[in-house]
Amino acid sequence: MRDLFELYQHRASVRKFKPEPLREGDLEKLLFAAQRAPTDATAQMYTILRITDRSLRQEIARLANNDEHVQTAAEFFLILADVHRLQRLVEHRGGRWGHWPRTAAHFSTVDAVLAGSALATMAESLGYGICWIGGVLNGIQEISELCRLPEGVFPVAGLCVGVPEVIPAPRPRLPRELVVHENTYREPEPAELDRAFEAMRPITRSGDWYKVLERYFTSGGTMEEREGRYQRLVARHGFDPDLPAEGLKRLEPHGIHAGSLGELIERALAEGYRSVLFRRGVVWLEREAEAFRGEGKPGEAIIRAFLDAMSPKEPR
Ligand SMILES: Cc1cc2nc3c(=O)[nH]c(=O)nc-3n(C[C@H](O)[C@H](O)[C@H](O)COP(=O)(O)O)c2cc1C
Repeated sequence: MRDLFELYQHRASVRKFKPEPLREGDLEKLLFAAQRAPTDATAQMYTILRITDRSLRQEIARLANNDEHVQTAAEFFLILADVHRLQRLVEHRGGRWGHWPRTAAHFSTVDAVLAGSALATMAESLGYGICWIGGVLNGIQEISELCRLPEGVFPVAGLCVGVPEVIPAPRPRLPRELVVHENTYREPEPAELDRAFEAMRPITRSGDWYKVLERYFTSGGTMEEREGRYQRLVARHGFDPDLPAEGLKRLEPHGIHAGSLGELIERALAEGYRSVLFRRGVVWLEREAEAFRGEGKPGEAIIRAFLDAMSPKEPR
């Protein structure tokens, strides 16, 4: 067991693993640590999916980044945000599940990260290497289907754990004063931003950290690419405040996949509806000589109007 201060001085994500399993008894320690993590309101809104099926792991690796380390690590876990089990527990005792989708997404993500992080730190303290895999968001829909994730559950990230083959040098971090503020939020000065790029320079091969930020976070970058898929998956799994998951699933056979109310409105207008009319408790999708109606709250109603538009009609 390594001292925690010393561990954090030297820790780095590991991407080259030896083809060796964890030592006897260590998996139990990792899972024990994960379960000892703090959790909001005692609820434990996460699930750790241990992927033991080699072909499933291979498929997840392909759908994520094609990262070699996803395949070669001794263990690969999918860290899931999960309010499904909590809903089962509540309903098991006759409770009526509340409507708090954004808060559910928030606290289930927090719980999942805390549990995964405890697992990861325990692994590192036992001398293993770890690497988080946000790349699972690239194939979030397919991975969720392969792993049969129900409503109320979505992947937060993957986590590789294994015996390190190569331990990289620790990567730099931003200057402390940029990430720790006192009492009120402090905007960084332009000169501090320059110093940030300077501090992070060694993290890249090109010598320019901006190249990394550009690839991920600018217009047309990786994050923007992930956004639509992520929104659609979390909405379909019940985490969008406006869109009922059941309704979204009923639209899918008609080729309509939406992750927000805005996306459904845009879709309607792109499909040639002249207008989308919202009135209290009702939505109309209007075409030249026709109008299709749906009742309910705005999200529910527009889904119903779409379903009305697409259902086979008697000649009028
Ligand atoms: C949420 C999250 C997602 C990540 N996704 C990936 C990934 O998909 N592939 C990968 O090789 N590393 C991934 N990483 C590892 C980061 O690249 C790494 O933590 C960062 O570069 C800092 O390096 P260090 O952990 O060695 O200090 C991820 C880390 C986090 C926290």
